[in-house]
Amino acid sequence: MSLKLGDTVPDFTQDSTAGRFAFYDWAGDSWVVLFSHPRDFTPVCTTELGAVAALKPAFDARGVKVVGLSVDPLESHERWADDIAETQGHALNFPLIADADRRVSEQLDLIHPGASDTTTVRTVLVIDPQKKLRLTLTYPASTGRNFAEILRAIDSLQLTDRHKVATPANWEQGQDVIIVPSIGDETAAALFPDGWQTIKPYLRVVKQPA
Ligand code: BEZ
Repeated sequence: MSLKLGDTVPDFTQDSTAGRFAFYDWAGDSWVVLFSHPRDFTPVCTTELGAVAALKPAFDARGVKVVGLSVDPLESHERWADDIAETQGHALNFPLIADADRRVSEQLDLIHPGASDTTTVRTVLVIDPQKKLRLTLTYPASTGRNFAEILRAIDSLQLTDRHKVATPANWEQGQDVIIVPSIGDETAAALFPDGWQTIKPYLRVVKQPA
């Protein structure tokens, strides 16, 4: 199944390091980051799992639950977790799905045969509380992901859900944002009473709303 932005991510159950993992029950009405990684006991994946464990408080602060996944069996995840704690300074503090039968990987399109027939690619799915897919990115096995960028993108998604704004290139929390083009100046005046800067009629910059 090829999931596209705006699609509903299907429910599934699978084994995980936190016990039987029922996706919808576990997610509740939180945002979710589901990220797949190619294989256990591999160097890049080890650093990624440690990095996400270190950032768990930052995900928590945004109301986001994180879950990892690969096609390795549970017994392998459990042994590897010791190495992650030992080498990365952060023990796993989120579930790691053991998708040994590939049911979930195939459902979520996490195996790309052109890259590898046998392992999951490095995909990140950001899923909102309505279970809609809001962001996806896929990296090759050789390139570890920048999870600070995932947090930055979540900040943008959550802000732009609350206000009629979009975030410009390289935007960071607290910086100026852009009034969406679908909002005319009359409506914008009501929404942004402190005003904005018009650089072009389609490029109106405003202070980030609270
Ligand atoms: C890694 O996590 O280091 C890795 C996994 C699969 C292929 C290459 C690198």
